[in-house]
Amino acid sequence: MAIRINPSILSADFVNMERDLGAIATADLAHVDVMDNHFVPNLTFGPQMVGRIQDVSPIPLDVHLMIDNPERWAPGYAELGAYSVTFHAESTDNPVAVARRLREIGARAGLAVKPGTDIETYLELMPEFDQILVMTVEPGFGGQSFIPDVMPKLVLLDQARKKSGLDVWLQVDGGITLDTIVIAAEAGADTFVAGSSVYNSGNPEQAIAGLRAAAHTAHKH
Ligand code: DX5
Ligand code: ZN
Repeated sequence: MAIRINPSILSADFVNMERDLGAIATADLAHVDVMDNHFVPNLTFGPQMVGRIQDVSPIPLDVHLMIDNPERWAPGYAELGAYSVTFHAESTDNPVAVARRLREIGARAGLAVKPGTDIETYLELMPEFDQILVMTVEPGFGGQSFIPDVMPKLVLLDQARKKSGLDVWLQVDGGITLDTIVIAAEAGADTFVAGSSVYNSGNPEQAIAGLRAAAHTAHKH
Protein backbone atom coordinates (compact mmCIF):
# COMPACT_ATOMS: atom_id res chain seq x y z
CA MET A 1 0.00 0.00 0.00
CA ALA A 2 1.43 3.36 -1.03
CA ILE A 3 1.57 6.09 1.58
CA ARG A 4 1.50 9.79 0.80
CA ILE A 5 2.55 12.61 3.14
CA ASN A 6 1.14 15.99 2.12
CA PRO A 7 2.36 18.87 4.31
CA SER A 8 -0.12 21.74 4.60
CA ILE A 9 1.35 25.12 3.74
CA LEU A 10 -1.31 26.75 5.91
CA SER A 11 1.38 26.46 8.60
CA ALA A 12 4.10 27.95 6.37
CA ASP A 13 5.29 31.55 6.60
CA PHE A 14 3.18 33.22 3.90
CA VAL A 15 5.83 35.85 3.09
CA ASN A 16 8.47 33.13 2.74
CA MET A 17 6.33 30.71 0.78
CA GLU A 18 8.98 29.73 -1.76
CA ARG A 19 11.47 28.93 1.01
CA ASP A 20 8.85 26.96 2.93
CA LEU A 21 7.82 25.00 -0.17
CA GLY A 22 11.48 24.11 -0.65
CA ALA A 23 11.55 22.76 2.91
CA ILE A 24 8.98 20.05 2.05
CA ALA A 25 10.56 18.83 -1.19
CA THR A 26 10.84 15.27 0.21
CA ALA A 27 7.05 15.04 0.69
CA ASP A 28 4.63 13.73 -1.93
CA LEU A 29 2.34 16.70 -2.52
CA ALA A 30 2.01 20.21 -1.11
CA HIS A 31 -1.44 20.62 0.47
CA VAL A 32 -2.85 24.07 -0.34
CA ASP A 33 -5.82 25.28 1.74
CA VAL A 34 -8.07 27.76 -0.04
CA MET A 35 -10.62 29.41 2.29
CA ASP A 36 -13.18 32.05 1.36
CA ASN A 37 -14.47 33.24 4.76
CA HIS A 38 -17.94 31.97 3.75
CA PHE A 39 -17.73 28.19 3.72
CA VAL A 40 -15.34 28.43 6.68
CA PRO A 41 -14.73 31.36 9.06
CA ASN A 42 -11.22 32.01 7.77
CA LEU A 43 -9.59 33.47 4.69
CA THR A 44 -6.37 32.44 2.94
CA PHE A 45 -5.74 33.07 -0.76
CA GLY A 46 -7.16 32.43 -4.21
CA PRO A 47 -6.11 31.52 -7.74
CA GLN A 48 -3.48 34.26 -8.14
CA MET A 49 -1.46 33.03 -5.16
CA VAL A 50 -2.00 29.36 -5.96
CA GLY A 51 -0.73 30.03 -9.49
CA ARG A 52 2.54 31.36 -8.08
CA ILE A 53 2.78 28.46 -5.63
CA GLN A 54 2.36 26.12 -8.59
CA ASP A 55 5.20 27.93 -10.40
CA VAL A 56 7.74 27.55 -7.60
CA SER A 57 6.73 24.35 -5.78
CA PRO A 58 9.21 21.45 -6.06
CA ILE A 59 6.32 18.96 -5.67
CA PRO A 60 2.79 18.78 -7.16
CA LEU A 61 -0.12 20.58 -5.51
CA ASP A 62 -3.01 19.02 -3.60
CA VAL A 63 -5.53 21.88 -3.49
CA HIS A 64 -8.19 21.72 -0.75
CA LEU A 65 -11.05 24.12 -1.46
CA MET A 66 -12.97 25.24 1.61
CA ILE A 67 -15.17 27.55 -0.42
CA ASP A 68 -18.75 28.01 -1.58
CA ASN A 69 -19.65 27.53 -5.21
CA PRO A 70 -16.95 25.07 -6.36
CA GLU A 71 -18.85 24.89 -9.69
CA ARG A 72 -17.58 28.39 -10.37
CA TRP A 73 -14.09 28.21 -8.86
CA ALA A 74 -12.74 24.63 -8.79
CA PRO A 75 -11.99 24.28 -12.53
CA GLY A 76 -9.66 27.31 -12.40
CA TYR A 77 -7.33 25.50 -9.97
CA ALA A 78 -7.18 22.50 -12.29
CA GLU A 79 -6.36 24.84 -15.16
CA LEU A 80 -3.47 26.28 -13.11
CA GLY A 81 -1.97 22.79 -13.12
CA ALA A 82 -2.90 21.49 -9.66
CA TYR A 83 -2.38 17.73 -9.45
CA SER A 84 -5.54 17.28 -7.39
CA VAL A 85 -8.45 19.57 -6.55
CA THR A 86 -10.66 18.62 -3.62
CA PHE A 87 -13.94 20.40 -2.84
CA HIS A 88 -16.47 19.88 -0.06
CA ALA A 89 -19.58 17.73 -0.40
CA GLU A 90 -21.41 20.28 1.77
CA SER A 91 -20.69 23.11 -0.67
CA THR A 92 -22.49 21.83 -3.77
CA ASP A 93 -25.66 20.03 -4.92
CA ASN A 94 -23.85 18.54 -7.88
CA PRO A 95 -20.51 17.02 -6.84
CA VAL A 96 -20.44 14.71 -9.85
CA ALA A 97 -20.58 17.59 -12.34
CA VAL A 98 -17.70 19.36 -10.59
CA ALA A 99 -15.63 16.15 -10.44
CA ARG A 100 -16.19 15.41 -14.12
CA ARG A 101 -15.12 18.91 -15.09
CA LEU A 102 -11.93 18.58 -12.99
CA ARG A 103 -11.03 15.26 -14.58
CA GLU A 104 -11.76 16.64 -18.03
CA ILE A 105 -9.17 19.37 -17.42
CA GLY A 106 -6.68 16.75 -16.22
CA ALA A 107 -6.69 17.05 -12.43
CA ARG A 108 -7.50 14.34 -9.92
CA ALA A 109 -10.91 15.04 -8.38
CA GLY A 110 -11.36 14.92 -4.59
CA LEU A 111 -14.45 15.00 -2.39
CA ALA A 112 -14.12 16.24 1.20
CA VAL A 113 -16.50 15.71 4.12
CA LYS A 114 -16.61 17.66 7.37
CA PRO A 115 -16.55 15.69 10.66
CA GLY A 116 -20.36 15.91 11.01
CA THR A 117 -21.16 14.74 7.47
CA ASP A 118 -22.05 11.08 6.90
CA ILE A 119 -20.24 9.22 4.15
CA GLU A 120 -22.93 6.62 3.32
CA THR A 121 -24.69 8.71 0.68
CA TYR A 122 -21.41 9.41 -1.09
CA LEU A 123 -20.12 5.83 -1.29
CA GLU A 124 -21.88 5.26 -4.59
CA LEU A 125 -20.08 8.29 -6.06
CA MET A 126 -16.66 6.68 -5.53
CA PRO A 127 -16.06 5.95 -9.23
CA GLU A 128 -16.35 9.69 -9.93
CA PHE A 129 -13.48 10.57 -7.58
CA ASP A 130 -9.75 9.94 -7.29
CA GLN A 131 -9.60 10.74 -3.58
CA ILE A 132 -11.96 11.18 -0.63
CA LEU A 133 -10.89 13.52 2.16
CA VAL A 134 -12.25 12.68 5.60
CA MET A 135 -11.72 15.80 7.72
CA THR A 136 -10.34 14.93 11.14
CA VAL A 137 -10.95 18.48 12.46
CA GLU A 138 -13.54 21.14 11.65
CA PRO A 139 -12.15 22.84 8.54
CA GLY A 140 -10.87 26.39 8.90
CA PHE A 141 -7.77 26.40 11.07
CA GLY A 142 -4.51 24.56 11.58
CA GLY A 143 -3.33 23.33 14.96
CA GLN A 144 -6.57 21.71 16.14
CA SER A 145 -6.92 18.29 17.80
CA PHE A 146 -7.63 15.13 15.80
CA ILE A 147 -11.22 13.84 16.14
CA PRO A 148 -11.02 10.02 16.42
CA ASP A 149 -14.85 9.67 16.15
CA VAL A 150 -14.64 10.02 12.36
CA MET A 151 -12.52 6.85 11.94
CA PRO A 152 -15.55 4.62 11.16
CA LYS A 153 -16.00 6.66 7.94
CA LEU A 154 -12.54 5.55 6.80
CA VAL A 155 -13.31 1.94 7.62
CA LEU A 156 -16.48 2.16 5.48
CA LEU A 157 -14.62 3.86 2.64
CA ASP A 158 -11.79 1.33 2.77
CA GLN A 159 -14.28 -1.54 2.61
CA ALA A 160 -16.11 0.08 -0.30
CA ARG A 161 -12.93 0.70 -2.23
CA LYS A 162 -11.71 -2.88 -1.71
CA LYS A 163 -15.09 -4.21 -2.87
CA SER A 164 -15.10 -1.99 -5.95
CA GLY A 165 -11.42 -2.51 -6.80
CA LEU A 166 -11.13 1.24 -7.42
CA ASP A 167 -7.82 2.99 -6.77
CA VAL A 168 -9.28 5.83 -4.70
CA TRP A 169 -6.94 7.53 -2.23
CA LEU A 170 -8.30 7.99 1.29
CA GLN A 171 -7.03 11.22 2.78
CA VAL A 172 -7.17 12.61 6.32
CA ASP A 173 -6.57 16.24 7.24
CA GLY A 174 -6.35 17.85 10.67
CA GLY A 175 -4.42 17.09 13.83
CA ILE A 176 -2.13 14.52 12.18
CA THR A 177 0.89 13.76 14.38
CA LEU A 178 3.19 10.77 14.92
CA ASP A 179 0.49 9.30 17.18
CA THR A 180 -2.70 10.08 15.27
CA ILE A 181 -1.28 9.06 11.88
CA VAL A 182 -1.15 5.49 13.21
CA ILE A 183 -4.84 5.59 14.18
CA ALA A 184 -5.82 6.96 10.76
CA ALA A 185 -3.62 4.48 8.86
CA GLU A 186 -5.06 1.56 10.80
CA ALA A 187 -8.56 2.76 9.89
CA GLY A 188 -7.63 2.72 6.19
CA ALA A 189 -6.22 6.14 5.31
CA ASP A 190 -3.23 6.25 2.93
CA THR A 191 -2.82 9.98 2.29
CA PHE A 192 -1.98 12.23 5.23
CA VAL A 193 -2.12 16.00 5.47
CA ALA A 194 -0.04 17.53 8.25
CA GLY A 195 0.44 21.25 8.82
CA SER A 196 1.61 22.22 12.27
CA SER A 197 3.33 18.89 13.01
CA VAL A 198 5.57 19.42 9.96
CA TYR A 199 6.20 23.17 9.99
CA ASN A 200 6.32 23.73 13.75
CA SER A 201 8.73 20.83 14.25
CA GLY A 202 11.86 22.87 13.47
CA ASN A 203 12.90 20.24 10.93
CA PRO A 204 10.24 19.62 8.24
CA GLU A 205 12.30 16.97 6.41
CA GLN A 206 12.73 14.92 9.56
CA ALA A 207 9.04 15.36 10.47
CA ILE A 208 7.99 14.12 7.01
CA ALA A 209 10.27 11.06 7.32
CA GLY A 210 8.92 10.32 10.80
CA LEU A 211 5.29 10.52 9.67
CA ARG A 212 6.05 8.33 6.66
CA ALA A 213 7.71 5.67 8.82
CA ALA A 214 4.85 5.70 11.36
CA ALA A 215 2.21 5.31 8.63
CA HIS A 216 4.13 2.44 6.97
CA THR A 217 4.46 0.57 10.25
CA ALA A 218 0.74 0.97 10.96
CA HIS A 219 -0.18 -0.37 7.53
CA LYS A 220 1.81 -3.57 8.08
CA HIS A 221 -0.42 -4.56 11.02
C1 DX5 B 1 -7.75 22.88 8.19
C2 DX5 B 1 -6.94 22.60 6.97
C3 DX5 B 1 -5.75 21.77 7.21
C4 DX5 B 1 -4.74 22.34 8.17
C5 DX5 B 1 -4.25 21.21 9.00
O1 DX5 B 1 -8.98 23.38 7.81
O2 DX5 B 1 -7.72 21.96 5.98
O3 DX5 B 1 -5.11 21.37 6.00
O4 DX5 B 1 -3.63 22.95 7.57
O5 DX5 B 1 -3.42 21.70 9.99
P1 DX5 B 1 -2.91 20.78 11.20
O6 DX5 B 1 -2.13 19.67 10.59
O7 DX5 B 1 -2.10 21.74 11.99
O8 DX5 B 1 -4.13 20.29 11.93
ZN1 ZN C 1 -6.70 21.07 4.24
